[in-house]
Amino acid sequence: MLKFDFDTENILAELEKTQKDFWNLDRPCANFLYLLILLKNAKNVLEIGTSNGYSGIWILKALENTKGKLTTIEFWEKRQSVARKNFASCIKNAKVEPKIGSAVVVLEDLVQEVETNKREKYDFVFIDANKTEYLSYFKLVDKIISDNGVILADNILSHKEKTAPYAEELFNNETYASQILEMGAGMMLSCKIK
Ligand SMILES: C[S@@+](CC[C@H](N)C(=O)[O-])C[C@H]1O[C@@H](n2cnc3c(N)ncnc32)[C@H](O)[C@@H]1O
Repeated sequence: MLKFDFDTENILAELEKTQKDFWNLDRPCANFLYLLILLKNAKNVLEIGTSNGYSGIWILKALENTKGKLTTIEFWEKRQSVARKNFASCIKNAKVEPKIGSAVVVLEDLVQEVETNKREKYDFVFIDANKTEYLSYFKLVDKIISDNGVILADNILSHKEKTAPYAEELFNNETYASQILEMGAGMMLSCKIK
C-alpha cells in the first residue's frame, strides 16, 4: 500500500479524524484520484472545492511525479488558509494556486484567462463543491478543458438528485465518455473524446 513520507502521513492521519466534518474524500477515493492523475500524466489540474486540503495533498503528491500544478477553488477563506498550511507541511515548494471565491465566478475568470491566452487549459478537473451547481461548473469547465481531458466528480450517488442534471448532461454529451463508479460517495469519471 502507498505510504508517503512521515510528515505527510501524520497530517493525512490527523485530517482523516475529521473527514466527515470537512467532507473530505475517504482514503481509497483519494488514492484513486492520485492514481488517475498519474495515469493521465496530468500537468495542469483544477480542483473545485478545496476544504482543508485533504484531496489537494493527494493531487499535489501526484503532481510532484508528473511535474504539474494545481489550481484549487474554495469560497471559505478560513478553510483555504488551513489548506494552504497543510499543503506547505506536506509538499516542499508546492505548485499550487489557491483561489478564494464562489466557484462559478472564479471559473468565469479562468475561462476569460484561457480565452485570452493568459492561462493554459486544464487536463484534469476534480469537481467537489456545491452539488446543485455541478452542471454550471461543467458548462464552464468544458471551455477550459483540453482534448482528452479528464473530469472526476464526487457525490454522484450520495447526492443523486442534486447531481442528476450533471450526470445526465455528461451521459448525453457526445463529446464525453463517462462512467459512474460505485466507490465512496459515488464518482463520475468522464473523458473529453472530441
Ligand atoms: C466536499 S468539500 C471538498 C472536500 C475536498 N475536495 C477533499 O476531499 O478534501 C466541498 C468544499 O467546497 C466548498 N464550496 C461549496 N460551495 C462552493 C462554491 N459555490 N464555491 C466555492 N467553494 C464552495 C465548501 O466550503 C467545502 O469546503
